[in-house]
Amino acid sequence: MKRTNYIIANWKMNGFEKSISLIKSIQKHLVSKASNSPKVIICPPFTLLSNFIKKSKKQIKFGAQDVHHEDSGAFTGSISAPMLKELGVDYVIIGHSERRQYQKESILELEKKINSAFSNKLRVIFCIGEKLEEIKKRSLILKKQLRSLPKKISSKNIIIAYEPVWAIGTGQTPTLNEINDIHKSIRKMIYKKIGKEAFKISILYGGSVNSINANLILDLSDVDGALVGGASLKSKDFCKIIDSSH
Ligand code: PGA
Repeated sequence: MKRTNYIIANWKMNGFEKSISLIKSIQKHLVSKASNSPKVIICPPFTLLSNFIKKSKKQIKFGAQDVHHEDSGAFTGSISAPMLKELGVDYVIIGHSERRQYQKESILELEKKINSAFSNKLRVIFCIGEKLEEIKKRSLILKKQLRSLPKKISSKNIIIAYEPVWAIGTGQTPTLNEINDIHKSIRKMIYKKIGKEAFKISILYGGSVNSINANLILDLSDVDGALVGGASLKSKDFCKIIDSSH
């Protein structure tokens, strides 16, 4: 089954207003490409979203890197789904391992965030992945993390990103065979939850994707795109990754 391909940039806590030049060069690249390019989503820090959205054309969509589960209230420092929607944001990353680790986000908390995103018509990029010490029980860990997903998920409201924690920012990745097999087993887990719709949901790989390995990773039958951290901050590298998507 043909699924939508996505190349998603996770800028993490990087970028300033001047980084609009990076957006512009990606945009220029997309315009020059044939129509079969993947969907490109940029997730900069909250502070840049408004201006970037105003200054960009429709080739690029924008996502936030997190969202609070309540719509409003006494939650100092937090940003809600209606606030993101008001800015013109279309996507939100939920469950990134850095937030699971540093903000101690739980399975239940992530479920609430996903529900809030859905209620406000935001599409969710949901990250799952095992830590190095969890490799042997990977399947169990991924199954547990997938418990945050409500039954109403579909290819229209969710993108899954498999990101082994030990591969993020380390230059290491699982082997190509491993990546493809893990993606297949994730799809089986989702199938058990929602049935046939699982075959339509895009499952991306993330963790040390770069301009050199992207071609091979994106060529795998069960990989429907990439979530890119470090390499998304360099225009040449990111455009090369976009071009590697089939
Ligand atoms: P990386 O990060 O590409 O720098 O490994 C990926 C991510 O954290 O989403």
